[in-house]
Amino acid sequence: MTAEDKKRAAAEAAIDYVKPDSIIGVGTGSTVNHFIDLLAEKMTDHVSAAVSSSEASSNRLRSHGIKVVDLNEVGKLDLYVDGADESNQQLHLIKGGGGALTREKIVAAASELFVCIADDSKLVDTLGAFPLPVEVIPMARELITAELREIGGEPHLRQGFVTDNGNQILDVHGLQIHDAIELESCINQIVGVVCVGLFAQRPADVLILGGDDGVSRHSAK
Ligand code: A5P
Repeated sequence: MTAEDKKRAAAEAAIDYVKPDSIIGVGTGSTVNHFIDLLAEKMTDHVSAAVSSSEASSNRLRSHGIKVVDLNEVGKLDLYVDGADESNQQLHLIKGGGGALTREKIVAAASELFVCIADDSKLVDTLGAFPLPVEVIPMARELITAELREIGGEPHLRQGFVTDNGNQILDVHGLQIHDAIELESCINQIVGVVCVGLFAQRPADVLILGGDDGVSRHSAK
């Protein structure tokens, strides 16, 4: 099975969580792209609208005729479906490889159930081999770079990339994250940080992994 097949299998399993006529939260990335396509294929008459975490996902949803609404119009959501760059056994995630981490964290916070979909390569023992994305206000970039070095990381500016919010991303290499909740708080407190791509204080509730033997469902251990 290719990685794309595994992502699609995980995305297909997440369709089971979509209630008819509901407004759902939709994340960003190649796995979520499969989810959006499957949503359109299988649920056309049943999804009334979606709250999206990026311009890219909004465009894909609209291209399938699915209405995109502002989170402020709907308040709380029952379900959020999104991918991840890494997950540990507690379903703490690294996200933001696609740069949409801030809006993803907002939609996750507004959702009752967060279903994370991924291929099985994303499950790790210790978070951090995937560089941790941090969205920053551009004028604070160097200040934040110095602070992130203090905590043991090596931040690299994501070249030629501007987030949907008009900010920059520092990808922090070289971390081994043993206490994701604590590190999330610590980085959140650096002045000029908009969002850190650690989803530990609000982890996923369910992780669906596509693998060679089909899909497996995980809850936090
Ligand atoms: C987008 O900003 C990310 O958080 C994605 O959810 C994450 O990078 C996973 O993307 P893929 O599904 O493309 O691996």
